[in-house]
Amino acid sequence: MKLHIVSGKGGTGKTTVAAALALALAREGRHVLLTEVEGRQGIAQLFDAPPLPYEERRVASGSGGGEVYALAVDPEAALLEYLEMFYNLRRAGSALKKLGAIDFATTIAPGLRDVLLTGKVMEAATRERRGGGRLYDAVVLDAPPTGRIARFLNVNSEVAGLARMGPVRQQADGVMNLLRSRQTAVHLVTLLEEMPVQETIDAVTELTEVNLPVGSVVVNMVREPLLPPDLLPAIAAGDIDTGELARGLKSAGIDATDSQLSALAGEATDHAGRVMLEQRERELLRELGRPTTELPLLPGGADLAGLYELARHLAEAGLR
Ligand SMILES: Nc1ncnc2c1ncn2[C@@H]1O[C@H](COP(=O)(O)OP(=O)(O)O)[C@@H](O)[C@H]1O
Ligand SMILES: [Mg+2]
Repeated sequence: MKLHIVSGKGGTGKTTVAAALALALAREGRHVLLTEVEGRQGIAQLFDAPPLPYEERRVASGSGGGEVYALAVDPEAALLEYLEMFYNLRRAGSALKKLGAIDFATTIAPGLRDVLLTGKVMEAATRERRGGGRLYDAVVLDAPPTGRIARFLNVNSEVAGLARMGPVRQQADGVMNLLRSRQTAVHLVTLLEEMPVQETIDAVTELTEVNLPVGSVVVNMVREPLLPPDLLPAIAAGDIDTGELARGLKSAGIDATDSQLSALAGEATDHAGRVMLEQRERELLRELGRPTTELPLLPGGADLAGLYELARHLAEAGLR
């Protein structure tokens, strides 16, 4: 069993990449669980499925009979399950629920919330199949964003520091052991833009500080450069031969006006500037020394067909 944790700045495609990775891993009859913990029902939306209940549902199939199951982990349901499992407190659980105590516990104590969420992910990840062996070959977690990821994953080591023994301590130790093992990899999704790249660099530092294993960097929504690299600096500086531009357009059967020509030149300058900026961000990511995979910007957006295309890229890149 391998646990893939996917983080990234919000909006970089964290949920999309987590889903594509689950599809990529669900090959040759393998069973993969895709989980989310932020109550957004992002997975159900991606797979055009109704909202996920607090139980695993099959949402897609991979190649060769592989299957992707999905689970939206809910802290309240996790707390009830926890009370029942460890303390045989099912009835107490429903009484607490009536009193609103569970809401209280899971919203007032964000640390507790994260303990419950990570605990549930570990429970699913290590669950045994009837007849022996792990139920899932891989678990993919659509995790909180880069700004919170190290704290979220490290919360159990803080709990372990508080509770000296008992089931809470055991569970916390179990989660930290799994997260720090070679079975786990924390992948970081980014765009070739300043802010997400900086957050990626910060997250690598923070994760490394608390001994959590950084996996791959996934650069999402990469656009094909439209201009030859050696011309970029000149074009970015606005040095464009509009006469040549006009001749080129003419040979393509287009008679451009002067204002169209200068608008086009302006766009070329913007494009060249952006590509050069992206090149700098790429260099910063390279310096992290992590395996890096680029995913294309899908013109039609990341619909179901797009997800399978991204999955193919991830499989070819060997992310597993
Ligand atoms: N490679 C891609 N090409 C095109 N659109 C993408 C790609 N990856 C993600 N998207 C789109 O970007 C938006 C944000 O993606 P999402 O996975 O929800 O991000 P996050 O979970 O990081 O907030 C969504 O509309 C999604 O369809
Ligand atoms: Mg998301």
